[in-house]
Parts: sequence; structure tokens; C-alpha cells
Amino acid sequence: MTAPDSISLDDQAIDILRGNDRGGYTVPTAGLYPYQWNWDSAFAAWGFAQIDMPRAWQEVETLFAGQWADGMVPHILFHKPDPDYFPGPGVWGGVGPVASSGISQPPVAATFIWLMYEMNPDAGLAHARNLFPKILAWHQWFMDWRLDQGAVCITHPWEAGRDNTPDWDGAMAGIDPVGVGEYKRRDTSHVDPSMRPTKYDYDRYLWLVQMGNRLKWDQAALLKEIPFRVADPTMTFVLLRAQRDLSLLGQALGEDVSVIERHIETLETGAQSLWNSDLGCFDARDVQSGKWSNCVSNASFLNWYSGIDSPDMLAQYDRVTALCSYPVPSHDPSSDRFDPKRYWRGPTWGMMNALIGIGLAERGFADRAEALGTATADLIADHGFAEYFDPMTGEPAGGGTFTWTAAIWLAWASPNKETT
Ligand code: DGY
Repeated sequence: MTAPDSISLDDQAIDILRGNDRGGYTVPTAGLYPYQWNWDSAFAAWGFAQIDMPRAWQEVETLFAGQWADGMVPHILFHKPDPDYFPGPGVWGGVGPVASSGISQPPVAATFIWLMYEMNPDAGLAHARNLFPKILAWHQWFMDWRLDQGAVCITHPWEAGRDNTPDWDGAMAGIDPVGVGEYKRRDTSHVDPSMRPTKYDYDRYLWLVQMGNRLKWDQAALLKEIPFRVADPTMTFVLLRAQRDLSLLGQALGEDVSVIERHIETLETGAQSLWNSDLGCFDARDVQSGKWSNCVSNASFLNWYSGIDSPDMLAQYDRVTALCSYPVPSHDPSSDRFDPKRYWRGPTWGMMNALIGIGLAERGFADRAEALGTATADLIADHGFAEYFDPMTGEPAGGGTFTWTAAIWLAWASPNKETT
């Protein structure tokens, strides 16, 4: 439902956050995603931090209440059953303190927690002390189980958050989803199927979930058996940034951060291992086949956010952004795999723009950062708080009244917001 024009965009964004609040956690959007998603929730906290700091801390504390004994923080917490979502808790068989999925998601939380702490250290101190060892354990889980040449790997396309990006096409083709059985998707009853992953994708998504459930999400067993392991720019750049911010938080709290500093060095090397010199771009690498994905994606442009400069990436950025009216597309528009409305195969995502924009601003590319902020603000002002957008026309796609789009509006894109 569109709010009346008289309500300002800031107020609309606040209404969306409040409307998606289920009491201690925020759903990405009603219907399509009725639970607490990991990185959505971290963005929600950043949004709430602009209007209600206690609620922002509550959001991340509810997320970490689902942390597993091995340190992993799941990508979905199923707080209250909802038959309108598939696959639910029974399919996953998560083994943590709250019903959950069995994989994680890009760990943006530490960065927003550090920002929240910096905004009001007195109010944040007790929360930060409580969360610091939990974040440390989560980051350690990635370092223990997910590294290849120092880059962070995913074991399921949903783990990167970029479900159906062409980055995984090669690795997905290596899976024969034999025995996956009959199932009924729910996502396509909420959203036009042409904007969602295909049945080919879903068969493989479920087959991987079934394998994880069978192995009780034992990481050592998964490492041996799973046929999907891709070193991912999203995970690598986001974790590198998150470790830098966790180190700052640790120093502010008087903690020993030497382990975190070593992890940063490892991840810096890992990020360079994602450089595809033929493509001239940071790319995903299929660890099992050794093949590049050959994809210029919006995750490729997270290098500045992670603290890594690259003149070649600036040239890629200028080329790709010039190809569409509403950058940054999730896949290169000049590629024959580009599909402007199908989820992560082309559409523009406001929250990715926010991360890219933060990186550009911090690394000294103020003009590009400002242009991206303005383009994103125009996109939302003209087309609403959608999940994602057609980069050519700006048309809204996926779910509506979306939490992270509202959150990045308040925290980053709104003209009323001072620069980040
Ligand atoms: C979905 O249900 O589409 C989600 O992306 C899985 O995390």
C-alpha cells in the first residue's frame, strides 16, 4: 500500500520499520519473508538507530540470541511458525537455541554495531560489551570453516544473500538434485515468478539444505561432502570490513584485538585472491573447479567498503554505472546473462548501493559517492521502498514496503541525512 503523498519519505520509511517490527525483531517484508533474516536485521538496526537507539540494540541482540554453540549466527531465525514461507524450520533442522536455518549470511552486523556504539557510546557500552564476544565467535566461525586462500566461501547460494546471481551458475550446474522430491514454493505466490529464482535454482537450493540437515550441519562433514563451495566477494569484503570495525570496537572497550588484526591480514590476502585479471575485476571463484564466474556484480564493487583501492575497479564502476539509469546493477548490463527484473541477475539493490557508497566516500571518491546517493534517493522517491529495482527503468520489483530499503533511506539516502 502506498502512503499518501503528504506523508514525507522519512515518515514513510519510519512507518515501514515500525510496521515490519514483530516485537524485538523486524521482518524484511510481510508475507514474502515473515521471519528474522540476518543481514536484513542488521540493516534494520542501522535504520532504527536514526530514530530509536534502544530498539536498534534490541534488534541485534535478538539476532545474536539465535547464535549456535559453534559461533555461527543463522541466516533465518524462525521465531514464530508461518506456513506461508517455504522452506521452514522442519526442512532446515537447525541445531541452535532458536529454530533456524543452517547457514549464515554476510556479517554486516559488526559494522552497524560499531556505528551505533559511536553514535552514543554511553548508551551503547553495556550492549557492546555483551555483543563483542559473540561477534568475535561468529567471525571466528567464518575463519575456521569458510576460508580458501584467505577468501570467504559460501556453501549455499542463500548464504551470500545474492541467491540467483550468475556468479554461481557454474557451481550450480555441477549439482544433480537427485531425490529432492516434491515441494511447494511459497515465494512465487507473493511475487511475480519472473522476478524470482527458477525451479532449476530451487531444486538445487533445497537439495543443498537437505544435505546440510542430513549431516546435522556439522561443518567438518559438510566440508568433505558438499559439492558447492564458492569464494565470494560479498562475504570476503563484508567480513574484512566487519573485522576492521570489530577491532575498533574492541579497542574502544579495552579488549585485546591481536587475533582480529591477524584475521584482517588473512582476509586482505583473500580479497586479492578474488582478482580475475582477465576480467579486470573482483570475481567469485568456484573452489572445487578452480573456475572464475566471470561476473562483474554489485558485490565486486564492495572493495572500497572493505578498505581496498583499485584503479581498475573505478574504471569498471564508471563503465557499468554509465550503462543504466539507476545504478548499481547486480549484474553487468552488457552481459548476456543480465536480466533486469530477476532478483540478483540484474536489479539494483538500495542496501548494496549504501555499502558501495560508504566505501567510495571513505576512500576519497566523494563525487561518485554523492552521485550514487542521489540516484538511490531518486529511485526510492520515484518508485517506493521496494526490495529491488529495474536498473534501466527504475520499476520496483520483488517485495514492497521493504525494511532494508527504508533503513538505508533513513541512515544514508535521505536528503535530510547528513553525509555518512
Ligand atoms: C528466500 O527465501 O528467497 C531467501 O532469499 C532465502 O534466504
